[in-house]
Amino acid sequence: VLSVFTAVLGSLEFGYNIGVINAPQKIIEQEYNATWVHRYGEPIPAGTLTSLWSLSVAIFSIGGMLSSSSPCLCFGFSRRKAMLINNMFAFIGGSLMGLSKLCRSFEMMILGRFIIGAYCGLASGLTPMYVGEIAPTSLRGALGTLHQLAIVTGILIAQILGLESLLGVEELWPILLGLAIVPAVLQMALLPFCPESPRFLYIIRCQEHQAKRGLRRLTGRQDVSVMLAEMKEEKRKMDMERKVSILELFRSPLYRQPIIISILLQLSQQLSGVNAIFYYSTSIFMKAGVQSPVYATIGAGVVNCAFTVVSLFLIERMGRRTLHMVGLGGMCACAVVMTTALALLDSVPWMSYISMLAIFGFVAFFEIGPGPIPWFFVAELFSQGPRPAAMAVAGFSNWTANFIIGMCFQYVAELCGPYVFLIFAALLLFFLIFTFFRVPETRGKTFDQIAANFHQDSVERLHFMMTSKVFSLDV
Ligand SMILES: *[C@@H]1O[C@H](CO)[C@@H](O)[C@H](O)[C@H]1NC(C)=O
Repeated sequence: VLSVFTAVLGSLEFGYNIGVINAPQKIIEQEYNATWVHRYGEPIPAGTLTSLWSLSVAIFSIGGMLSSSSPCLCFGFSRRKAMLINNMFAFIGGSLMGLSKLCRSFEMMILGRFIIGAYCGLASGLTPMYVGEIAPTSLRGALGTLHQLAIVTGILIAQILGLESLLGVEELWPILLGLAIVPAVLQMALLPFCPESPRFLYIIRCQEHQAKRGLRRLTGRQDVSVMLAEMKEEKRKMDMERKVSILELFRSPLYRQPIIISILLQLSQQLSGVNAIFYYSTSIFMKAGVQSPVYATIGAGVVNCAFTVVSLFLIERMGRRTLHMVGLGGMCACAVVMTTALALLDSVPWMSYISMLAIFGFVAFFEIGPGPIPWFFVAELFSQGPRPAAMAVAGFSNWTANFIIGMCFQYVAELCGPYVFLIFAALLLFFLIFTFFRVPETRGKTFDQIAANFHQDSVERLHFMMTSKVFSLDV
């Protein structure tokens, strides 16, 4: 419990920094304006302000993109040390943002967002990897879901603290942003008490003794021979593989299929349009006649959290594949309902409530499957050797899609109006079909069995290719 809690503090930090920037937008923009007046003696041009603000928001994903695609940190350091070092980023980033008002510098704010984005990029790879490695096979999915639960909890905390009655006011917003250092400091304080990932110690570092000690601490049992035997088998297989670079992931027929699945799962999370919903929700809630749309958005945040918990309990019972498909299908249906409701909004007033329900449903289905599953699924699809490289590729695809949606959605929404969600519905349908035909079930299987599954697959395909070539030569 301690180890997983400590690890997901990184996810909490990640979520907090996603959610924190929305509520105080107007106040921070005023601050940029005031800084501009202070420096140049004239109000900031509106265009400059928009660019500065967009940059402050978007540079977060750029930081994430860059750091998530650099697996060097994972290779060089142990998981625990990598998380410790990563906290430095959070500390520096949080401090820069918290002090930017005091120093009258929006450059500090932007730099802080970039650095904290870099932190989140690394954390989004390190946390699921560490949790996946220390979790017992029977709980791996449930514990993996905690990463997403911590993210949505972080978003919710940020939304609540950002309310005008709390920290979302002119004097207090630096505290709101500076609070980002709290999870980092807490994680730094707790990490020394957590065992290093035994999988890492044994399989990468060959330190059997330390790995055993770690396993004993994690399981509370003296006899860890079963888990050790499982790791031994995985290591034996891995020693037969060469070290895997990112390029090889795509070249080798052994890894090509799992890496394509990983990338598409990450894309299914980001291109499902859930972030777009969060942009759009406020205006829809406003149309629905809700007094303060901020609270409705917080309501969506609560639904978000609640259904992540539902997924937590279902995941080991129903399996990843099923839940992912249920989630994608449900989201697709909700998107269609929402589009219909939005299109009819002007002629049929009560449609606004239908669209509101559809939004809640959309968010709920997201958290049942596409929200939590892609994060830990990648760690499950790969054995120890290629795992860091695969996590890097998956993280990079996720962050890139996130960035693209963040930049493009507003323009596409202007172009298509309410029909923009039909695009997402089509994408969701595609991902549903892909999952049905291509994604294997990993519940209750050891890492080794999962990898063996793909090996067998590719061997069969190779065999088929060879026999068909022989056949064509014959002809
Ligand atoms: C910036 O502040 C000045 C007052 O100092 C105000 O007149 C102006 O409208 C503000 N500009 C923007 C873009 O908010």
